This record gives sequence, structure tokens and C-alpha cells, in this order.
Amino acid sequence: MSDEYPREYTSGKAPVAAADVTSLGAYLESFDGEAGYLDWAAFGPLSPSVRNDSHADAELLGTGRAAGLDLVGDNVREARELVAQVMAAEPEQVVLQPSTTYGLMQAMYGLAGGVLISRAEFPSLTVSATRAADSLGSMHVEWLEPQDGFVTPDLVRAALTDDTRALAVSLVDFRTGYRADLSALREVIGDRLLIVDAIQGFGVVQADYAAADVVCGNGYKWLRAGRGTGFARFSQRAVDRIAPVLSGFDGTDGDLPVDAVPAPSGSAQAFTVSGADELAAGRLAIALREIVGVGIDVIEAELADRADQIMFHAGRYDIAVVTPHEPERRAGIVALAPAPADAAALAASLTNHGITVTVRGGSVRVAPHVGTTADTLRLFGDALAEFASTRVR
Ligand SMILES: Cc1ncc(COP(=O)(O)O)c(C=O)c1O
Repeated sequence: MSDEYPREYTSGKAPVAAADVTSLGAYLESFDGEAGYLDWAAFGPLSPSVRNDSHADAELLGTGRAAGLDLVGDNVREARELVAQVMAAEPEQVVLQPSTTYGLMQAMYGLAGGVLISRAEFPSLTVSATRAADSLGSMHVEWLEPQDGFVTPDLVRAALTDDTRALAVSLVDFRTGYRADLSALREVIGDRLLIVDAIQGFGVVQADYAAADVVCGNGYKWLRAGRGTGFARFSQRAVDRIAPVLSGFDGTDGDLPVDAVPAPSGSAQAFTVSGADELAAGRLAIALREIVGVGIDVIEAELADRADQIMFHAGRYDIAVVTPHEPERRAGIVALAPAPADAAALAASLTNHGITVTVRGGSVRVAPHVGTTADTLRLFGDALAEFASTRVR
């Protein structure tokens, strides 16, 4: 297998052009949810523009007027174009999906050979890959066993086998907050396929999506667009190498296939089942238009600052932080690892102060967004101070 990766895929960070520039100030003000919310990695409360636009689209769909239906239908084109813009890809390579997992399953079921996946990944990868392996037998999982949950280039290099045909990895790990280095992973795997679950970083940090062959995500967390706003990009190499096993009638070219069953499309369209949800596409489009308008580089810098502040408070009260400190190796998730005996007290203090986080297996996942205000950070600091004052050393 060649170590050379085709030139067209090594273009570095995706440039994001701002069509309608939104000021950072206006974007920050649009975060109108309640103070204390630090759980953006679980669910992103919907933005005002998403709420308003989806009401307007729903009204248009209620009229039955052709012009109104067409207008809402055009959301699909716009959403694909904006996803492509963020990934520096062609809109034809992007298809809308019900969720991240649906997109990943389209890829997993069509793979052949060994697929490297960390055992600690979110189940969208581990379960889908195992089901695909068990049911089809054409691919098998080669498990990575990271000590710390970080899928690093060194870990992957050491695990590659002659059978390995693909690496599947999260851009940002849902538990540790570790941000994978897609460019470095590409270097390590040569021309094998790179499949990326981008849901925990898409739209809030810049990434070398051009280094990947399949990138899947959803807009209900960091994009504030609600569920149903999934998407996937399949590069031409992905289309050439992944069998469209789960392809439905929407995955063909041309008109609705009736009285005959044509071959799947030769493009990313093959990895679809039936028509996209136009209301969901509208929510995704408006959310992405806003983000592209502000600039993902600008959002990334702000988010790094909010995560810094969470880490500062944790350090101040001697609570271990699992997430890497280097801004380029994290996004919006800060994972705290209190001593096992302290975990329940920390979780209780956060709840008592009106802070929403995810507590799982003794770890506390804190996920601010750029709109996280000084009030919320103060509440968080107060909760940690109270916890520390009652901690028995
Ligand atoms: C890393 C990761 N992947 C996938 C998912 C699930 O995504 P979806 O609901 O879009 O399938 C989550 C949800 O928390 C996640 O954290």
C-alpha cells in the first residue's frame, strides 16, 4: 500500500469564506438560554435564528403553494453548499443524513478489510462497526486500546497492519475532549481511508477535513440547529472504495426509479436512503450561515478562551483535568476527573448551583460554548469553591 496521499486531498485547513459577515458581538448576544448551561456537548439549545426560520418554513409548508414548497425545498441545496464550504469540499460530495450515526453506518457497512477504531470511541463508531462486521463479514474491527482515550498518530502507527484499510476516529473525543490531528493521522495511514465523526467539533474549530475521506456530523449540539440536521461528506476515493450497501431509492441518479432498478449513483448521493428533511435542512443552513459569517477561526479562539476559564477554575481547586491543555488538541469539552471519593460531592455542588453538565462514571464533562457568560463561569467557580471547602483531604 502506497504511503503517498493524492495531492488534491492535502490542501490543509479548510478556508471559510464569509458570505454575510455576522459580528462576533451579535453572535454572542444570540445565546439567549439560561445561565448555568455547560452541556453543549450533549445538546445545544436552539439559536433564535434557527427557531425563527423553522417557524417561517413550517408556515410556508402549510400553504400548499408551489412557490413556498420550492423555497423550503431549496434548503437542501443551501445546507449542502454550506457544509461543503466549511469542509473545503464540493457540494456534490455532501449529502444530508438524519444523524451522524446514519452517515457513519453508510460508510461502515460498505468497508472491506480491517478498520482501526478505538474501543473508547462513542458507540456511533464502535457499535456500527461491530454490527457491520458481524452481519456482512467483509470487514473486521482492529481495536485500538488507548490508555488515555487519545487517538494519537503514534498509537495509530503502532497498530497498523497489512490488513488495515481504514481508520475511523472522532474529531473531538466525547469523553476526554481530545481533538485529533487529522493531518498527522493522514500522514500515518498513507492512502487508507480516514473516516471522521466530527459532531463534537464541526463549526466551532477548524480542521483539516480535506485529509479525510468521510466526515459525518449533526447540528444539534455546537451548531444549535436541533436534531435531524445530520450530514456526511464522501470524497471521490470514498465513493470508489466504499460499497453503497445501505443505498436507497434516493441514492440513484436521475428521476425516481420506477419499473426498473438502476445502479446506485457514482457520487456521494449513493449513500442516501430517501429524501432529505427540508425543515431540518433549513435549520442546518441558517445555523451554518451564521457561523460562516462570524468565521470559524474567530469562534475557535473564543471557545478556547471559555475552555481555558473552566480549566483555570479546576486548577484553582485542585481538580484533575483530563483534556489536553494545548488549544489545538481540544475544542469545547473539558473533562474533569475528581478523585473517586469526591465525584458525587462535586456533581452535587454543581447541581446545587444550577450548573448543567454531564456526569458519567465519576468523570464530569463540562462543555461551554462561546456564548457562555461571565455569570455562568462565576456560578461554576462558586460550585467548585463550595465543593473544595467540604472536601476531606
Ligand atoms: C462523538 C459522538 N458521535 C456521535 C454522537 C451521536 O450523534 P448522532 O445523534 O448525530 O447520531 C455523539 C452524541 O453525543 C457523539 O458525542
